[in-house]
Amino acid sequence: MKHGTLTKDNHAALWHGRFKEGPDAAAVEFETSIYVDERMAEDDIRGSIAHAKMLGNTGIISQADSSKIVKGLESISKDLKSGKLSIDYSAEDIHSFIEATLTDRIGEPGKKVHTGRSRNDQIALDERLYLKRVIPELQGKLLKLIDILCDIASKNLDTLIPGFTHMQHAQPVTLAHHLCAWAWSLVRDNERLTDALKRIDLSPLGSGALAGSGLPLDREAVAKELGFSGVTPNSLDSVSDRDYCIEFTSCFSLIQMHLSRFSEEIVLWATTEFNFIELSEKWSTGSSIMPQKKNPDFAELIRGRTGKVYGQLTNLLTMMKGLPLSYDRDMQEDKEPLFNAFDTVSSCLNVFTYMIESAKWNKSVMEQGCEGGYLNATDVADYLVRKGLPFRTAHGVSAKAVRIAIENNCKLEDLCVEEFKMCSELIDEDIYDYITPRACVEVRSTTGGPSSKKVKQQIMMLKKIVNSCTKKSAGKK
Ligand code: ARG
Repeated sequence: MKHGTLTKDNHAALWHGRFKEGPDAAAVEFETSIYVDERMAEDDIRGSIAHAKMLGNTGIISQADSSKIVKGLESISKDLKSGKLSIDYSAEDIHSFIEATLTDRIGEPGKKVHTGRSRNDQIALDERLYLKRVIPELQGKLLKLIDILCDIASKNLDTLIPGFTHMQHAQPVTLAHHLCAWAWSLVRDNERLTDALKRIDLSPLGSGALAGSGLPLDREAVAKELGFSGVTPNSLDSVSDRDYCIEFTSCFSLIQMHLSRFSEEIVLWATTEFNFIELSEKWSTGSSIMPQKKNPDFAELIRGRTGKVYGQLTNLLTMMKGLPLSYDRDMQEDKEPLFNAFDTVSSCLNVFTYMIESAKWNKSVMEQGCEGGYLNATDVADYLVRKGLPFRTAHGVSAKAVRIAIENNCKLEDLCVEEFKMCSELIDEDIYDYITPRACVEVRSTTGGPSSKKVKQQIMMLKKIVNSCTKKSAGKK
């Protein structure tokens, strides 16, 4: 027999017995899901092995049949991995393909693997196993990016950069502080995934098509064998619940939104006007007509692919919104959006990390950027507050100084003491020590503030999170 080709007998749809006629070829093409669910082959086999062991241990089938099934499934798994066996895409779905291949290989006992099981609880199990397998990989990518941001931040504790609100110069910060800000959003993304993983840590197997089983299945044993912390409490809910698809895709949407915003900054920062960052040639593209061009296409593509991820979330929410209990075939349509969103976020995380890791930061340009725009106006007010002036009055004094500076087309620090004194008698010669961009940054030593000491603490906190999450995930393997 050619590998990957099922024998005629076992090839028929799992449900063909009731029908006199086979389905129309176009109908089969329309309903098949194997092109999408084939990626869960490994998980499907794992689930079936656990199920078969339980069937043997509970005496529902003989131990001899159980071990034949387990061996057969293991051989399928091995051959799929080595490429000796390829998927037969004429099968309706991955479950049908594996069951048919099993029966091809081991004969009659293969027909017992589906005892006490429905594809409805099987698919719910496969999806949970799949997510439990791949989400930690995605988290590894998030943690790697956080780690790299920390490394760049550590080297830029003193690199001044203008901070913006409304895209207007606001107050000076440091590149380190700015990068840590993005790192914290990724920390939350990682936490959200960990949290969502907790909710899928229950095995739905044994819920059957919708109403459980009359056979003495040991659901708890299967759950334990597969590494779940328990079993789902309601058979109807078990086969109808796709909250986890929506929840994970919502987590993916947030990650992608963060990458997209960060990409927007990269695009801006790579402009001639900003020139804060120089992307490596490996992660830039040129123009077919303009020879001078070096474009930030990768940042743009990440930003552009965000629509796809959000779209998948809307797709899932809409697909589920009208479904009565319990399983409805509509739910087969959950995998494409889930996988597509996952793949998009996963590749965007990779690419974003390469891009940021290989970029050059134009420190002197960033620092020059702190010169204009009166970023230190708040510090003039704070200086006066320290001298006892109410803040609102100090705000007015500083605003007057800014007005004089604008009229003279100069910086605040270019005003002479007399000019400052015209605004407030309280201002003395020492004002200049307080309003250099560096002084403005270093004085901001509130927790979470941009002073180098505080940012160093932030980096330590971030590194600690990365290390403990990495250790935890290594411990689980
Ligand atoms: N391919 C199906 C899905 O992904 C598996 C469950 C099929 N169940 C059924 N009753 N047709 O949802």
